[in-house]
Parts: sequence; structure tokens; C-alpha cells
Amino acid sequence: MASRILIIDDEADMLLLLRRMLSDRSRYEVTATDSPLSLPDLLRGSTFDLVLTDLKMPQRDGIQILAEVKAHDESIAVVIMTAYGTIESAIDATRKGAFDYITKPFRKERILQVVEQALKWRGLQQENLLLREKLEGRSRFPTLIGSSPAMKALHLQIDRVARTSATVLITGESGTGKELVARAVHSHGSRGSKPFIPINCGTIPEPMIESELFGHVRGSFTGALRDKKGLVEEAHHGTLFLDETGDLSLPMQVKLLRLLQEGEYKVVGANTIRKVDIRFIAATNHDLQDRIRKGEFREDLFYRLNVFNIHLTPLRERAEDIPALARHFLHKYCVLHKKEVSRFSSQVMAHLMEQEWPGNVRQLENTIERGVIMATGEELQMADILTMAPEARTPCPTSPMEAAEEIFQLPFKEAKDRLIEEFETQYLTKVLARHAGNVSQAARDSGVKRQYLHRLMRDNKLDSRSFRKGEPEDDSP
Ligand SMILES: Nc1ncnc2c1ncn2[C@@H]1O[C@H](COP(=O)(O)OP(=O)(O)OP(=O)(O)O)[C@@H](O)[C@H]1O
Ligand SMILES: [Mg+2]
Repeated sequence: MASRILIIDDEADMLLLLRRMLSDRSRYEVTATDSPLSLPDLLRGSTFDLVLTDLKMPQRDGIQILAEVKAHDESIAVVIMTAYGTIESAIDATRKGAFDYITKPFRKERILQVVEQALKWRGLQQENLLLREKLEGRSRFPTLIGSSPAMKALHLQIDRVARTSATVLITGESGTGKELVARAVHSHGSRGSKPFIPINCGTIPEPMIESELFGHVRGSFTGALRDKKGLVEEAHHGTLFLDETGDLSLPMQVKLLRLLQEGEYKVVGANTIRKVDIRFIAATNHDLQDRIRKGEFREDLFYRLNVFNIHLTPLRERAEDIPALARHFLHKYCVLHKKEVSRFSSQVMAHLMEQEWPGNVRQLENTIERGVIMATGEELQMADILTMAPEARTPCPTSPMEAAEEIFQLPFKEAKDRLIEEFETQYLTKVLARHAGNVSQAARDSGVKRQYLHRLMRDNKLDSRSFRKGEPEDDSP
């Protein structure tokens, strides 16, 4: 297999020259860019074995490139190219993890030699990693169930990034396991024995977030009766998990940016600046790029958080994980509720695998828990899960028409009513899932009044709470 090489240099001539020197197609697959800012996208899009980067570039220098590449994957070889006057910094780069440096101008033989050595080193790194994985066994993330390709890729990503202190941004729909992954990254890294401090930026009322995060001194505002330690201080040397980061207000985003950039913050009501050593993991189910476009999220903060992105695949796109997850939850809730249900009827399993699961793993988990509570025998039956969970009632066909075969055998009026009912349930399920159970937003999106949406939901026996995380409902008709 050809080795993948990425060349970064702001001079187009240099890129052309290097491309020509490394033009052996059977051995090297070369990608070249004159824009260092495109690095994160390139790293996400493809697996490189070697990054060959210029040291001095206007937008971002080679040392920063090195740090970014290593945060993404320590085993990628980085070679720095430099002009004569800047050898000092190039040597510094090798201390920071670059494989080697090469001075410009260079001859073809020299560059080929360095490239070959670097690729050999990369090969060894990967062999070591595989060996270590074999030795340690496959079940290093016992809490993360699933063996679909998406889950395997996830395990690898967690493993790699846990070895670094790089900031991680976990994205994915509600209930896909973002918090679980954050904990896995923390506990498999060198900070594993230190505190993991979560803060839910979406549920803490805005005026309190700053004091929650940074703490306050007595008397700094009405009600501040004594000094309070902030979560940031508690996370010192450990990990701060910023959950629902997309919900932070713009002023809080500025303060967070400073904490991320300088490791500095101010306790509310105090004048002194404090320093901390923290690893940051952020999670969101919002499309942050979209929020940036709308001016609701700072782009600079996004780049600070998005050093290493882990994106979680929705459950419907990895249905092969459902049986293992279902058995895991069956066992968990039998123990918890002291029941003895040992298996699913084949009909139930087929049903579970057909669902869309807009609430992902959490919704599956809730469905199984309620099923366990309802079950009377050793086998979980359709009736046990159909008596509840509005979201799991009917197999969710992809379009109302698909559901219609048997409906079309009915008398006209009855068929029409049934179809409308089907359509309503599906429409509401989807729009509520899109807005995580927020009725006001769902109403706006569907162009109906909130009260009307509530009535439709009642008619269709849909509960907004089953689309969100379990907070009490804030929308009442
Ligand atoms: N791969 C998995 N194996 C076992 N349990 C899982 C897995 N993924 C998710 N879960 C479980 O599903 C539930 C939801 O997971 P989690 O809270 O991490 O989701 P989330 O992505 O943070 O959701 P939200 O965006 O709504 O906060 C948890 O109880 C978690 O333990
Ligand atoms: Mg979460």
C-alpha cells in the first residue's frame, strides 16, 4: 500500500518541486496544500503517515502544525523543512516530537532518504500499537458496547487521544453516548486517577454559570453568603467536561476562550487571576458550524475546542449494535429491578432492530428498562414493550405510504383516518426528535401554534419528555 504524505508549504513552487521529487506513485500518495489552515479538515478526511511542513508560514508556523498533528495522532511522522537561518527552531521542533528536519534548498536524494526513514519510524509506531492492543485485550472499554465498524473506529480514536492532553470535541445526536465517551477518554489517559468534573452548560441558568465554573467570593453578589469553590478549581490536574457547550451565551464563551487559551480565570468578585492545568472535553448535539454562521457561537472558541473531533454515529446507522446493547440493558435492569428476564422473543429483537431510534441509545435503554418492569415471564414479549414507550409503538416506516399496504384494504374513510394518524405520529416524532423535545422550537419549525402542537401530541400519545434527557417539561400548553 502506498504511504500517504501531506505536504504543507505556502510557496506554490516548493509544492510543485516536492511533488515532482516524490512522484513515485506506487510508493507515495501525495497531498499538497499551501493553506496550513486546512490542516484540521485534511486530518479528519484522511489518514496520513507523514506530514512534511514548512517552518515559516504567515498563517501558522510549522511548530503549531506539529502540535496539531501530534494531538490528532502521535504516530504520524512530522518532518520540518526550514531555510538556513531558522535551524534553531527546527532543532527545537525535533525536541517537541518532529521526526527530523531538513534544510532548504535540498537535493532529491536527501529528501527521499528522510522520507523513507520517517515512514519506517511510522511503521514501527503502528506495529507497537497493534502489539499493545493485542496484549491488553480487546475489552479495554467495557462500558462501551458495540462492535460495528463505527464503534471499532471509535475505540481506536479514544485510545489514541486518551494518550494526549489534546482538547476533544464530541459531537453527535442526543443519546448517542457522548458523556460515556468523554469519561472513557479521561479514564484511559494519564489523568485517569484525577477528577473528572462535568458541567452541563445547557441546564445551569445563565447568571449562575460563571460562579459555578469559576467560583465566587463572599459578598460578590446578593446571596453569595460564603466563598464558593468553582468547578474549574476542582478539575485542576484532571478533566473538565463541558457538556452542551453549544448552549453557552456569548459572554461566557469569551471567558471560556480565555481559560482554554491561557489556562487562566478570575473568581467572581475577586481581582486576582488564577492559573489551572486542565484537560478539556466538550460535547454538543448542535451543529456548531451553523451556530457560527448565525453569530451564536464564536469561531475562535470552536477552533480551540475542535482540536480533536469525535463524532458519534446515530444508532439507526449501526443497527448491528442493537442486539448487544439490548442484552446489556436487559441484564442491567434485571439486576436493578430484581427481575428474571433472560431473553427477548425473536419478534421483539426484530422490532428493536427496525426502529429509527431518534433518541438513540438512551431511548433504547429506556425502552428495555420499561419492558423489564412490564415483563412477567423469562422472555421479554412484544406486549411488554408495546404497552408503553410511544416512540417504540409502531415500526417507524420511512414514509407514510410504506405503512399503507394493509391500510389500503380498509374501507375508504377508515383508511383515510388511519393514514392521517400514521402521518401525524411520524411527522411529530421526527420534528420533536429534531428539537430534542423542545415543543416551542418544534412548533416554530412546523409552522403551527404551540398549543396546537400540544393537542396533536396528546392525540398521538406523544410525550415531549421521551425526546429529551429527563428534565421536567418546561412547555405547558
Ligand atoms: N455504546 C454504549 N454502550 C453502553 N451504553 C451506552 C452506549 N452509548 C450510550 N450508552 C448509554 O446511553 C445513555 C445515554 O448516553 P450519554 O448520556 O452518554 O449520551 P449523550 O450523547 O451525552 O446524550 P445527550 O446529548 O442527550 O446528553 C447512557 O445511559 C449511556 O450509558
Ligand atoms: Mg450528554
